[in-house]
Amino acid sequence: MHQAKLTLDPAFTIAPVRRRTFGTFVEHLGRCVYTGIYEPGHPTADEDGFRRDVLDLTRELGVSVVRYPGGNFVSGYRWEDGIGPVSQRPRRLDLAWHSTETNEVGVDEFVRWCRKAGVEPMMAVNLGTRGIAEALDLLEYCNHPSGTALSDLRVAGGSKEPHGIRMWCLGNELDGPWQTGHKTAHEYGRLAAETARAMRTIDPALELVACGSSGSGMPTFGAWEATVLEEAYDVVDYISCHAYYQEHDGDLGSFLACSTDMEYFIRSVVATADSVGARLKSRKRIDVSFDEWNIWYQTRNRDAEPLTDWPVAPRLLEDQYHLADAVAFGGLLITLLRNSDRVTAACLAQLVNVIAPIMTEPGGRVWRQSTFHPFAQASRHAAGDVLRVEPVTPSYETKAYGEVPVMDAVATHGEDGTTVFAVNRSADRPVSLEIDARALGGVRVVEATTLTDPDVYARNTADEPDRIAPRANPDVEADPLRVLLPPVSWNVIRLA
Ligand code: AHR
Repeated sequence: MHQAKLTLDPAFTIAPVRRRTFGTFVEHLGRCVYTGIYEPGHPTADEDGFRRDVLDLTRELGVSVVRYPGGNFVSGYRWEDGIGPVSQRPRRLDLAWHSTETNEVGVDEFVRWCRKAGVEPMMAVNLGTRGIAEALDLLEYCNHPSGTALSDLRVAGGSKEPHGIRMWCLGNELDGPWQTGHKTAHEYGRLAAETARAMRTIDPALELVACGSSGSGMPTFGAWEATVLEEAYDVVDYISCHAYYQEHDGDLGSFLACSTDMEYFIRSVVATADSVGARLKSRKRIDVSFDEWNIWYQTRNRDAEPLTDWPVAPRLLEDQYHLADAVAFGGLLITLLRNSDRVTAACLAQLVNVIAPIMTEPGGRVWRQSTFHPFAQASRHAAGDVLRVEPVTPSYETKAYGEVPVMDAVATHGEDGTTVFAVNRSADRPVSLEIDARALGGVRVVEATTLTDPDVYARNTADEPDRIAPRANPDVEADPLRVLLPPVSWNVIRLA
């Protein structure tokens, strides 16, 4: 058995918990929109064609903000295709995913869905094939109350109230050669800056996100952020990070520690942004919007047969997540929370069917993947301030990251109590975690749950939807306060 320790002291706070940490993403990709959030004719469909079963699970997941409509999709998207009478909307080729886009769902339907789900919409503009004018048109269409051609079009389409979208992404992954309209950092930085400046003329209070790198392994990583921010520093609020992880060649130890890369990624981007700020003699601080993160088996995708026709809503990126995925995922959540001083928004990519916590059958059932649970628990219980817990833990050697801690943890502390979120990455040994809670005075464990399974590759399916789900952890001792974390597990310990 491993021994580990952490300390809870409300005096040592990192930052407030940011509700936008619990964002997700809906892209016109595969079955995320069609037969995901939207399926008229489904037994649970509401009057707008939205699946009520998916809406219910979105609420249960505790989602705060949802990014839309892409992703790679947005870089070829004409937003006007998705407004007006549905029967008159054009069908278009979607180059990003080699699919046919029917445009049955557009910005008005998406915002309506957001209102029903109780989430904030976050919109991306197309800076791949389009530019400043189209971004301004979309902003005016969405947010201007009425009395102009575009805002009156929205009103005529049934959305009387402005959509009031605060957060806008200036394009998507334009550093990536796969992106339609791929650009150099300088080309993108200029376009992002001028688009932001113009959008701010309509509304200075918008929150604008410049595209950072598509991953810390990109050849332009670091230089891209510096160049883009040198152009856009004064007119944007965020720089984005995107990261996906998977197990390679059966190397479970490295995979469970993939948050090591996320931590490095965040620190590097923050340092780069601050160094640009210093050079510009600016007192402003740029935050990180980690607006795509997840486990994604991209190598499987690469090996899949390429699409030769242009299907509508094909099955794409429908990864099935197992226990080990959920534990690696939990490590990523811990890292996002621990960096709440600079990561003030994040979007799990994506919400339904496409590398998603929620899965559906067309016309049929809905179920929670293993990764649903760490997200839902963290969103439900992370409140107040994030605490610096200074874990003391044994380490192990990994091929990808060298020495890494066996246990990783973070805690939050608010009016309703204190919650510890912890992962045990050991494949074969439990961790006996001692929690020094003296600074909290007389608290006890009110609930301890663990997400684990004897088979780390066990997963949930439509037929067995609850194989991987949090269960009560019976191994709790009161004095000293100790909780046993099973091998390969995600754990939530609530104290009050
Ligand atoms: O989330 C899937 C894809 O991953 C997105 O469309 C793109 O932005 C990223 O490469």
